[in-house]
Formats: sequence, C-alpha cells, structure tokens
Amino acid sequence: MSFSQITFNELIDSYIEGKVGIANDFLSPPLAAGLKSNLVSLLENKQLLSAGTGNDTEVVHNKLYRSDSIYWLDRKHNDPYENDFFDLMDAFVAHLNSTCYTGITGYEFHYALYQPGSFYKRHFDQFRNNSSRQYSMIMYLNSEWTEGNGGELRIYNGDYEQDITPVYGKSVFFKSSELEHEVLLTNKPRMSITGWLKVG
Ligand code: OGA
Ligand code: NI
Repeated sequence: MSFSQITFNELIDSYIEGKVGIANDFLSPPLAAGLKSNLVSLLENKQLLSAGTGNDTEVVHNKLYRSDSIYWLDRKHNDPYENDFFDLMDAFVAHLNSTCYTGITGYEFHYALYQPGSFYKRHFDQFRNNSSRQYSMIMYLNSEWTEGNGGELRIYNGDYEQDITPVYGKSVFFKSSELEHEVLLTNKPRMSITGWLKVG
C-alpha cells in the first residue's frame, strides 16, 4: 500500500497553524468502510466495553464523566483493516518523526461508540501519572451528520471553542497535553477510531 504524504502534510500543517490538525481523507474510503463494519460487528457481538477514565492502575468507570464504549485495535487480531490501519499509522509516524523531530515510539488506538445520550466531559488526554501520550488522533466513521445530531468534539483552543462535527472521513490531530476538549452529548450513534501517539 502507498500512502499520501500530501494528506499527512495537510494534517500536520493545519496542526502547526491552529493547534488542531484536520484532514479529510487521512483514512481512504475503503479503509474507513472496513473499520466501520468492524465496529458494527463488535457491537453486534457485544465486544465493546464501557470505557474507563485514567490508565491501567487508575481506572474509574464513571458514567457521569464518560459514557462511550470501546475496543482496542491490535495487530494480533489479524484483521486486514486493522493491519492496514497500523501500516498507515507506521507511515504517518515515520513522516512525523522525520519532518517534525517528534520522537514518537509507539501508539494505541481503540474503536469508540457513543450511543445516543453519551458524551465525554471536558478533559485532557494525558494521564496525571503518565505523560507518554503526546498526540491525540480521532478519525470519524459516521456517514451523515447534521446539526441537531449533537456529538461535536468541542476543543477549548485558547480564547475560543472550536466545534468539530464527527463526520465520515474527518481526522483530527492535536497535542494531548495542550488542549482540553469534550464530546458533546450525541443524539445519534457516533462512531470513531481514537488513539494516541506515544513516547517511552
Ligand atoms: C477521547 C476523546 C474525542 C472524540 O477519547 O479522549 O476526547 O471526538 N474523544 O471522540
Ligand atoms: Ni480526549
């Protein structure tokens, strides 16, 4: 598979310009469709788990704070779409490290489903006891999203609140320690791949 450096640069350039990188075709349409069908199967097979907050040693399940369900992607699943996704991320990380000297050495990604009524209150993505998460990335898998569906990603970016609709094909990239953000209550099932580029 070959990857588009142009799309990588679109994400990185918009990040450098405004602290929030956005690209519209980071995931190719077939890859996005494959990951979305995986997410739908995970839901049907009841494999999605209620998401916690905090890391392994400090995990709290607090539905008042966060009410999405998740499933971690893993090369060990031998799923063709997950493997294509990891190949894409390997290429993106190599590009980022060589152009921006970011020193990223790893990553983690999960599927996320917000059922109607779900949200994720204002937070930073870095844990208090572990600063390995450097960059946050979210890729949306919802084919249609109109005003009134809710579920926007609201980023507290300096003086303004930047609202991002979670529409198909859109990828978002920002520094995990820098920007507080939240997921507004959604009125429609809201699907994404979310993850972090890490050091150490
Ligand atoms: C997260 C998060 C944002 C989104 O999972 O930490 O902030 O738009 N997700 O899904
Ligand atoms: Ni977050």
